Amino acid sequence: MDYKAIEVKRQEGITWLMFNRPEKKNAMNPTLHREMHHALWELEDDADTRVLIITGKGDSFCAGEDLREYFYELKDKPVESERIRKISYEWRGKMLRLFSKPTIACVNGWCFGGGFAVVGNCDLAIVAEEAKLGLSEINFGNFPGGLVPRAIIDVMRWREVMYYSLTGDAFDGKRAAEIGLVNFAVPKVKLEEETLKLAAKLVEKDAIALKETKEVLRIGRHLNDEETWYWSQAKGHEMTYLQKGGWLDKGIKQFTDKQYRPGLETFKKD
Ligand code: COA
Repeated sequence: MDYKAIEVKRQEGITWLMFNRPEKKNAMNPTLHREMHHALWELEDDADTRVLIITGKGDSFCAGEDLREYFYELKDKPVESERIRKISYEWRGKMLRLFSKPTIACVNGWCFGGGFAVVGNCDLAIVAEEAKLGLSEINFGNFPGGLVPRAIIDVMRWREVMYYSLTGDAFDGKRAAEIGLVNFAVPKVKLEEETLKLAAKLVEKDAIALKETKEVLRIGRHLNDEETWYWSQAKGHEMTYLQKGGWLDKGIKQFTDKQYRPGLETFKKD
């Protein structure tokens, strides 16, 4: 597929997926939704993608849904509107949350409305201190809908979920870190370097253990105590099978052979 609204860049096990409508502040129009859906589907099985970073080209991460193309122009086209809403729900929801490799949102600038679903549903997030973010829906007479409520409730502190949803006030990257929307904020000049540093740390880890970690935590958080226990037991057996016993035969063995200290570093895979 020849992408118009996004760009894919690969470097040493790390794949950058970039919103590429800088002239429209990377607002998500139907083309962008279709392309992100396609790209995630392809990258899921791409052996060269060990970590996925989502960011935006230009001065924006994502100005949310394209208010003209996604809402206004589709208001009298229910079939087309429903179709594109489903695609937008699929890629920013289940496909992103359960993507089989770790995902990082690299929030390089403006981020509004529907962009919060992308940030919230990535596993990790880093923001430029100078970025401006906001749950702006109330400012155009609406509310944070679709995937946004779940995503913000999952990661942000409750008082701030309510405050920013009701006021529509914009806030900066430092504040985004304080309220739990992202892991940390760095000066914009350091954003790419710090994001790559984090991604490189993940590339070193065992890929199967990363996938199992995501599934144990993401599914497990919605289960009760007993279900969580049995889910985690079953996933442990699955992981041992998929790794061919790697965590025991390498991870634990290398520790007992005094080759490394797991409290401080990762075992040697090969
Ligand atoms: N949907 C459609 N187009 C958008 C857009 C959106 N969400 N956000 C920005 N754009 C377009 C603008 O219409 C403008 O297009 P034009 O050059 O053809 O007129 C272009 O992007 C640049 O935006 P502009 O408003 O001129 O830039 P700015 O730097 O002054 O302000 C923002 C940037 C992001 C603060 C402002 O564009 C904005 O408030 N956007 C809407 C954000 C929002 O509420 N999103 C929630 C959607 S769920």
